Amino acid sequence: MLDRIQRLKEHALSELEVVDDPESLRAWRVKYLGRSAELGEMMQALKDLDRDQRPVIGREVNQTKTALEEAYEKREESLRIAALEHSLQHQRLDVTLPGRPLPQGRLHPATQTLRRIYSIWAEMGFQIYRSREVETDEYNFELLNMPAHHPARDMWDTFHVTQPGILLRTHTSPGQIHVMRERAPEPIRVILPGMCYRYEQLTARAEIQFNQVEGLAVGKHITFADLKGTLISFAKRMFDQDVGTRFRAQHFPFTEPSAEMDIECFLCGGEGCGVCKYTGWLEILGCGMVHPTVLRNGGYDPEVFSGFAFGMGPERIAMLRYNIEDIRLFWGNDLRFLEQF
Ligand code: FA5
Repeated sequence: MLDRIQRLKEHALSELEVVDDPESLRAWRVKYLGRSAELGEMMQALKDLDRDQRPVIGREVNQTKTALEEAYEKREESLRIAALEHSLQHQRLDVTLPGRPLPQGRLHPATQTLRRIYSIWAEMGFQIYRSREVETDEYNFELLNMPAHHPARDMWDTFHVTQPGILLRTHTSPGQIHVMRERAPEPIRVILPGMCYRYEQLTARAEIQFNQVEGLAVGKHITFADLKGTLISFAKRMFDQDVGTRFRAQHFPFTEPSAEMDIECFLCGGEGCGVCKYTGWLEILGCGMVHPTVLRNGGYDPEVFSGFAFGMGPERIAMLRYNIEDIRLFWGNDLRFLEQF
């Protein structure tokens, strides 16, 4: 019996020496120290031995069990240290390496252009007035001197919502009435930026959703000369000190007289090119003197007050500034385009 115990011990210890992973270590433990291990069976069999042999064999079995347990613990510890060293070697962090830069977002080109426009108008004393995007037919058309069935309504292809008389504003001009009704009879100098919506054919120059920046000045002695001077000053700050400008007659029902303002094409210097359609000029905005009916609708007496208004498209201005050929790039969310700004 003593020989058997000795052989078992030697066998177990030599097997333990080659155990090199936690899985095999667990299996070794079950085999030699588990409930149905051979040592356990020997303990059970003690009662069948002669009385004088029992304590000798019992002590030997116990000592062997203790020796195997100690050997197991040592092996477990050495495997744990080996695993730690392995992970320190292979997953080492070099804290002296320079950090990786995080990808940084940037402002959308339309936002950049809008902010430039805001700051130029702020320098000229114009406050920002925000008006609603979902409008009534009354504000978008009627109060702007376009009663129902007025043919000029066709200039703006409109998105109507299911509720009658409610629509997505086609331009920022209805904001003129809101601000006038809020401020009358005080003088006004505001810009009204925001999204507009038109049920239009998508083209390289026309989107169904785009920004506009409206401007409105109302006071007692405002003239067309003020309108021209202010807009020329804006163009020089926005584009270039030497940029040429011109006003062409146009028709808007809410201004009289009405005009469109062009700037000299800065790509060809007025010689004529594809961007200016060989005219040498680029249109940047519509404008005019506020129509007496509109002044009255806003709460101002047109016999006493006058005013000018204008409306420009920031995306079109950005297209000119950065030579962008297609307006659809603005809302296409293509990072290759956006990252250029
Ligand atoms: C108007 O919307 C007038 N409310 C402007 C105005 C205001 C005139 C105050 C007089 C007094 P118009 O439809 O031309 O006008 O649009 C003005 C500007 O918005 C255009 O010059 C253009 O820059 C921009 N715009 C118009 N339609 C689109 C479109 N589909 N996509 C992108 N920009 C557009």
